[in-house]
This record gives sequence, C-alpha cells and structure tokens, in this order.
Amino acid sequence: MHDVVQDYYGRELQGTSDLKTDACCDASSVPDWLKGLLKKIHPEVLSRYYGCGLVCPPLLEGCRVLDLGSGSGRDVYALAQLVGPTGEVVGIDMTDEQLAVAEDHRQFHIEAFGYDNVRFLKGYIEKLDELDLEPESFDVIVSNCVINLSPDKDAVLKGVRRLLKPGGEFYFSDVYADKRVPDAVREDPVLYGECLGGALYWNDFVNLSKAAGFADPRLVEDRPLEVTDPALAPRVGNLRFYSATYRLFKLDGLESNCEDYGQAVIYQGSIADNDTKFILDKHHHIDTGHIFPVCGNTWCMLQDTRFKDHFQFIGDFSRHFGIFSGCGVELPFDQETNEEETNACC
Ligand SMILES: C[S@@+](CC[C@H](N)C(=O)[O-])C[C@H]1O[C@@H](n2cnc3c(N)ncnc32)[C@H](O)[C@@H]1O
Repeated sequence: MHDVVQDYYGRELQGTSDLKTDACCDASSVPDWLKGLLKKIHPEVLSRYYGCGLVCPPLLEGCRVLDLGSGSGRDVYALAQLVGPTGEVVGIDMTDEQLAVAEDHRQFHIEAFGYDNVRFLKGYIEKLDELDLEPESFDVIVSNCVINLSPDKDAVLKGVRRLLKPGGEFYFSDVYADKRVPDAVREDPVLYGECLGGALYWNDFVNLSKAAGFADPRLVEDRPLEVTDPALAPRVGNLRFYSATYRLFKLDGLESNCEDYGQAVIYQGSIADNDTKFILDKHHHIDTGHIFPVCGNTWCMLQDTRFKDHFQFIGDFSRHFGIFSGCGVELPFDQETNEEETNACC
C-alpha cells in the first residue's frame, strides 16, 4: 500500500481541492489563535494540506514535537510557532513530492518566525527505529490523517511509545469506521488514498492502543464524514466514517478502567489561550476554579505530565471507592437486593 499512497499524495493530488471526499480535509472552523499562525505559513504549503483535524494540544512552548506523515508541512510550521525558539518540531514523511514542498519553504519560515526550529526526515512511520531519533526524546507526537494509511498500525503505535518521554502524549487526528472495513473497500486504491479504505473500526483501534501500552485512550473530539462523490458513495455502502482526535499518554501507572479514589483537581486557568477552561478530552471540560472530581487515570494524566503546574490536586490513592461512575464502565451487577437471595447461602 505504500506505493499506492505515495502515488496518490505525490502525483495524483496537486492540492486540497483535488480530494474527492472530506475525509482528508478538515472542514471544521479554524480557531482564532490558529488563524494568526496560519497567516505566517507559505501559501504553497497551505494549498497542499490534507489533514482531517487539529493537532495542536495546549502548552507546547519549549517542547520537542514529532509529526508523523507531515506532508507539505502545514502542521509542522504551525507547531514551530507554538513550541517557539527553545523547542523543536521534526516532520517525517515517505513521499518525496510532499517533502520537497515542505523543504522548499524552510528558509521562508525561518525568516518569518525569526528562528530555525524545524527539520524534515524521509522515512516510514512504521519504521521509526530506523531514523536517527533518540528514544524517549519527544514531549508530544502528533499526526494528522495518516495512521489510517499505514499498513502496520501496530508498529506505528509501538514506535510512538518508544520515542515519547514518560508523561508524553500522542495527540492525533485520524479516520475511523463504525464497523470493520470489508476487503473490497480496503483494496480500492482511491478509497484507500482518500483515507477511508485503511480506516480502523474504532473499537479495534482502542484495543490496539491498549495492547501497544496506551492503557486509556482518550477521545478529544469527533465529526462524521460524508462521502458525497457519486462514484465513491455506492462503493462505501452502509459504512459510516468519522474523523476523530485521540490523545494517548505514555504513563506506566494507568489502569484499564477509570477507578474512583475520591480525588479531584482544580484548574488554575494559567495555560495561554485556555484561561476559562481546560479540555482534557470530550468528557473532561474542566472549568477554571471548579473542584472537578476525577478518576485515578485522569489524575495521572494531569499530575504526571506537562500539565502538572496548572492544577491543584486534592486527595491521593490511599482509599478506593470502586469504578468511577459515568466513565466508560459501570458496575455490571444488579443494584437491588432480593432478601431471599441475599440470605440463600447464610
Ligand atoms: C492525508 S496526507 C496528510 C498530510 C499532512 N499530515 C497534512 O495534514 O497535510 C498523508 C501523508 O502521510 C504520508 N504517509 C502516508 N503513509 C505513510 C507512511 N507509512 N510513512 C510515512 N509517511 C506516510 C503521505 O506521504 C502523505 O504526505
């Protein structure tokens, strides 16, 4: 599949408008803070953007960031401004034509930003260990509409885990299906190139992430995709596709479920552009100053990561209260007691 994808992004597509679906094209509105960053990016880089989401988590100043499948470099050049002169952003892509666009405009961006903190490497995201990248050296790894194109997603996740620092995170947008994609769809080169054919059934992705060592994948945001092209729509049948952003923290202590230890956090409102609330994921929009009850995993995602200094932490792990209510898994047993049954074995 590498050849099909290289051909699609290297030769078939000349720009965003050539896409036949909105899968590899983020139609969501651009937040104001991003508009300012995009204004400084070269128009040719922007015209070859094929991402499906926003891969700029908060608090990146000074971070080392890696972008998997960086394409023409839009996200790399946006992230370069967020990490600033003390950080670094490395982009990896396997397609010469995409890398050439990104490289051709490096000097333009050095002059626009006033510093040089970007580099691009040619390589496969399934073979990150073959690149000259130090294990445990990245604070954040991002990717925008690329993992679905990989024929070996397990290798990608394991490679990501190896390169992340402890407490680092993989923050990425990608395409998922509501059921397993049949062979006929997966083997269709246009559907594959359009980021649909290689999409994982969402629950297979969750389980793959857990097996790769990311015990508690967190969904940040999602939107349904439409296949409006009259030639492609019938080939997709009743499959439903979604663009979704997940964050996977590299934290050894995470449990397989959200457990309640009676803990809570208070967000200080101290992260730039996030003064009224902090969004950890779709279910954790934490208002500034509010005492916000959290499970043990969420506690760790805030306490053992770069977010630590921006929260006040209440409680510890000394007492367990059972499963954290409303957080994925519920107590599977009936709650009402039948007195006869209760006494049956006394
Ligand atoms: C849909 S485009 C997204 C590009 C970029 N992230 C963006 O938002 O514009 C997919 C990109 O991933 C690259 N890619 C796909 N599979 C890859 C792989 N296995 N290894 C490295 N790069 C890959 C392609 O060359 C292409 O540039």
